[in-house]
Amino acid sequence: MNINKIKDAEATHYMPVFSRDSLVLDHGEGNCLFDINGNKYVDFVAGIATNILGYNHPEYTEAVCNQVKKLMHVSNHYYTEIQSQYITRLCEASGFARVFLCNSGAEANECAIKLARRYFKNHGGDKVILYAEGSFHGRTLATLTVTGNTAQHERYSPLPQGFDSFKYNDFDDFKSKLTDNVGAVILETIQGERGVRPFSNDFLVNAYALCKSKGVLFIVDEVQTGMGRTGTLFSFEHFGIKPDIITMAKGIAGGIPMGACLASEEVGTAFSLGDHGSTFGGNALACAAADKVLEILQNGLLERGAKMGVYLGNKLAHLSKYNFITDIRGLGLMRGVELSDKVPAAAFEGKIREKGYLVNVAGNNTLRLIPPLTITEQEIDGLVAALDEVCAATHV
Ligand SMILES: Cc1ncc(COP(=O)(O)O)c(C=O)c1O
Repeated sequence: MNINKIKDAEATHYMPVFSRDSLVLDHGEGNCLFDINGNKYVDFVAGIATNILGYNHPEYTEAVCNQVKKLMHVSNHYYTEIQSQYITRLCEASGFARVFLCNSGAEANECAIKLARRYFKNHGGDKVILYAEGSFHGRTLATLTVTGNTAQHERYSPLPQGFDSFKYNDFDDFKSKLTDNVGAVILETIQGERGVRPFSNDFLVNAYALCKSKGVLFIVDEVQTGMGRTGTLFSFEHFGIKPDIITMAKGIAGGIPMGACLASEEVGTAFSLGDHGSTFGGNALACAAADKVLEILQNGLLERGAKMGVYLGNKLAHLSKYNFITDIRGLGLMRGVELSDKVPAAAFEGKIREKGYLVNVAGNNTLRLIPPLTITEQEIDGLVAALDEVCAATHV
């Protein structure tokens, strides 16, 4: 099939929601993707922070293939050994007592919102959930409501009630919004879709302390920042805080759709029989994939990824010599290179691709780098050299 036929099929049949690059990917190996013409790209997108083991990772591929042959899916009316093994490993590794398994980031956040509301009902009645401006938490109606994007809010109104926003990184505003009506706060420590925009250490530490003092639930969306992405298993660990609820997805099962909502014993048991559920959530295939991903992280990939994250950060710092690079930020293997408005990041992205590297654009004109955790120093050197060359050839 040639590329025009593929593009035509998409334009004719797919609901027109995606703007896709003109690239048809065929297969992956290691940290590289290959298109249908055999061109190779070192992948700093990783299916948006999802393919944390890269492609065709031997141990992972073997575990997934074995599980496909054995058992892929049964109803959650029954137990499976692999789900039991995985939830035990996940709870031990994360320090959370309770988990609900689902299929995506939005579902994990939807679960967190429902869980918080059940908790409020058990503790005196309905409460408001606060979210941050600039946040991204998903595309279901409730998660869209806690996503700080007013254009999307207008498109899908009327929205569910019981939510309010606070200004990004503005503790005074946060404090003024944290009235007695508020029962929970949801945020990402680094706003990935907003262009890898981190909250400050001070904001997070103070916001957390204030929530604790008022008995307000602290929910951290680790969908993009979790699974070793920032150098620790979860990003909240950098700030010495312990949320009541966290949500995960993306890298959790290395590319097989999965999400999870984790909570303390007290909060996680606010749900009772029949309060929530999922047909596919936590099926045997997803659990086998996720169990293997977590085992590989525990067997050294977490430390290795953390080292590579520091390496990437140090290398990228050299690009600050270009005056149109307005900011370089992020943690671990989640980095953003912000360009001045005079240099459209999308055109920049295309030039990097011509040099054999995939990066993507997020937020305000920011190149987002979120490679597999298996990325090597050599591959990072190659990307930074490509960025340097494109920068050197850019005249503003
Ligand atoms: C922080 C965060 N939360 C939630 C989501 C939604 O995840 P999904 O697309 O799997 O529903 C995303 C997706 O980009 C995300 O980055």
